[in-house]
Amino acid sequence: MPKLKIALTKGRIEQKTIDLLEEIGINCDFLRHKKRKLVFESPYDDYEFILVKAVDVLTYVQQGVADIGIVGSDVLYEDENEHYEMLDLEIGKCQFCVASTPSYETTDYRRKIIATKYPNTAARYFQEKGEDIEIIKIEGSVEIAPLLGLADAIVDIVETGDTLRENGLIIFEEMMPISTRLIVNRVSLKRNKQAVCQLVDQLEAHIQQKKVGV
Ligand code: PRP
Repeated sequence: MPKLKIALTKGRIEQKTIDLLEEIGINCDFLRHKKRKLVFESPYDDYEFILVKAVDVLTYVQQGVADIGIVGSDVLYEDENEHYEMLDLEIGKCQFCVASTPSYETTDYRRKIIATKYPNTAARYFQEKGEDIEIIKIEGSVEIAPLLGLADAIVDIVETGDTLRENGLIIFEEMMPISTRLIVNRVSLKRNKQAVCQLVDQLEAHIQQKKVGV
């Protein structure tokens, strides 16, 4: 039987994902001592892991190169794609927010400039509120955009709030919660139904147990 290929998101949620997989008995020691390696065949189970950027998790799953992807709902919301979202892993919790310097004027009718890594999410949010805005796409360190006068405010993810605080920004609007999701390629779900469902069931049961504190 071919190994199930799982695309994991590098960075922010990587360690929490590995912890969760180990909690359900999937030995991931090779992922903990990985150095610069990016593809890992488990010597213990029928799993193969690839470590990629969040948006690329979607691409690998969409193209059927990976069977399963583990990625934040921020990325899924921003870049709607063909996949099954099967489970909320309830890790990597944070939220989308509108933030700016304390002097940001929300009530005037001037057309606002919003800097963000998430242009579709920002556009949808303000459109639903009936506000016409201009969006400037930024790839990272978005917090400096209002400080340097590039934008009036930002739409970004906030986890601890440290980055906002350390840059003198405050939250003006809490847009929506974000958490890590397990997604599956549609064809792979049909082909590897048993293996995929077994993993999803195990994770789901474990997450429920953690919730009730067993
Ligand atoms: C994210 C986000 C904020 C920060 C928020 O950036 O864009 O900058 O994390 O986290 P906090 O509320 O815990 O401070 P990320 O670390 O993913 O890096 P990036 O700026 O390079 O995108």
